[in-house]
Amino acid sequence: MTATPLRLSVLGAGYLGATHAACMAELGHEVVGIDTDADKVALLEQGEPPFFEPELQPLLRKHVESGRLRFSTALPDAADADVHFVCVGTPQLPGRPAADLSQVEAVVSGLCEVLRPGAVVAGKSTVPVGTATALRERVKEACPSADLAWNPEFLREGYAVADTLSPDRIVVGSPSPETVERLREVYREPVANGTPFLKVGLETAELVKVAANSFLATKISFINAMAEVCEATGADVVELADAVGHDDRIGHRFLKAGLGFGGGCLPKDIRAFQARAGELGLGRAVSFLGEMDDINTRRRQRTVDLAHEVLGGRVAGHRVAVLGAAFKPNSDDVRDSPALDVACQLHLHGADVVVYDPEATGPAQRRVPDLAYAPSLASAVEGADLVLLLTEWSEFVAMDPSAIGGMVAGRVIIDGRNVLSPEAWRAAGWEFRALGRGH
Ligand code: UGA
Repeated sequence: MTATPLRLSVLGAGYLGATHAACMAELGHEVVGIDTDADKVALLEQGEPPFFEPELQPLLRKHVESGRLRFSTALPDAADADVHFVCVGTPQLPGRPAADLSQVEAVVSGLCEVLRPGAVVAGKSTVPVGTATALRERVKEACPSADLAWNPEFLREGYAVADTLSPDRIVVGSPSPETVERLREVYREPVANGTPFLKVGLETAELVKVAANSFLATKISFINAMAEVCEATGADVVELADAVGHDDRIGHRFLKAGLGFGGGCLPKDIRAFQARAGELGLGRAVSFLGEMDDINTRRRQRTVDLAHEVLGGRVAGHRVAVLGAAFKPNSDDVRDSPALDVACQLHLHGADVVVYDPEATGPAQRRVPDLAYAPSLASAVEGADLVLLLTEWSEFVAMDPSAIGGMVAGRVIIDGRNVLSPEAWRAAGWEFRALGRGH
């Protein structure tokens, strides 16, 4: 626990904000979380996360019960805070590659009405470079002794609590030494435990986040481009990635070929980065990100094509079990989910699609009500002509090919995440196909 608890507010209680609020309470601070969604706030007040995130519920409960963490729908309830964390979403604008900053704008405007002297607004949302400087001017105009810094967040869904309590780095963008010190106080415990604390300018802080996500997206798309080459040449991308990754300079992480990236961050961040670079006349500097986006999207089409191929050219009328709806395992997030996208495309081609996901059925149903959803793995694969593994939940990785073989109508499987053993499945009589691997 920190020696000097601060009063903090966290604006926005999504995957980022709810986790940040609970973790800041765990670090010893007095925290109020604000969100405009009354249903979400009602759940959080009971210590219930409004989404699936391992390890979050016990932390929420602990600190709601201790009184160190409360939630409200009223932004003025944040007025007493020493530091306000802006954690609202910056989704992609409908039909455009750029980020929708309306929630950030609204929260900062609201804060400007209630800021007390000396308060610090710390932006955590992912924003286009240049946003923070403009917001800082507004804060200074409203309250000259207050300040605004940028403090990007690098947590991964599924590991959000661990990533927040022990991040691999803390980046603070601010021209003011006092503001930087205030944020160092907030993060006293992880810094004392060895987390690097990096002080940079506002623009660098904004860019660190998009540069990191662009690099991760590029690494995934690079190996998926190699998967395309492997498919055409008879090479095996899993063996290739393993061999390439042994070079320490390259490494094995984020080199898993398959259906590619999705979620609420990587896809929209690389698009928003291109949009902002275009506005700055720098389109060419990041034009490669358009290529990364295309490679990524082609993996979804390739999976749909492969489904057609293994079903004799037509998926219509065939029962297809889609295993996975979340954009990745250990999350119920279906935003820009490659799995759900493939399920929708097969459904549109007339396949009788049944989707099963251990955690994301509710969110998937709300997003795509037209699809059929099964309550269990067994009921999803029952009578299937084709099984597609599209999100690598451990329940799917551990499937026994003989047991599943006894339930399906046809032993045909596509491993969209390269997590199953082709030998084991083929030995059990399955036609086994995967992305980037020969057959
Ligand atoms: C990503 C970043 O990893 C975080 O550092 C960042 O804070 C976050 O975005 C954000 O901007 O808020 P996240 O969206 O939770 O985190 O998911 P990742 O674990 O990065 O996975 C992204 C996608 O890439 C998933 O669809 C995953 O299946 C895919 N992926 C990942 C691959 O296809 N291959 C890989 O080797 C790794």
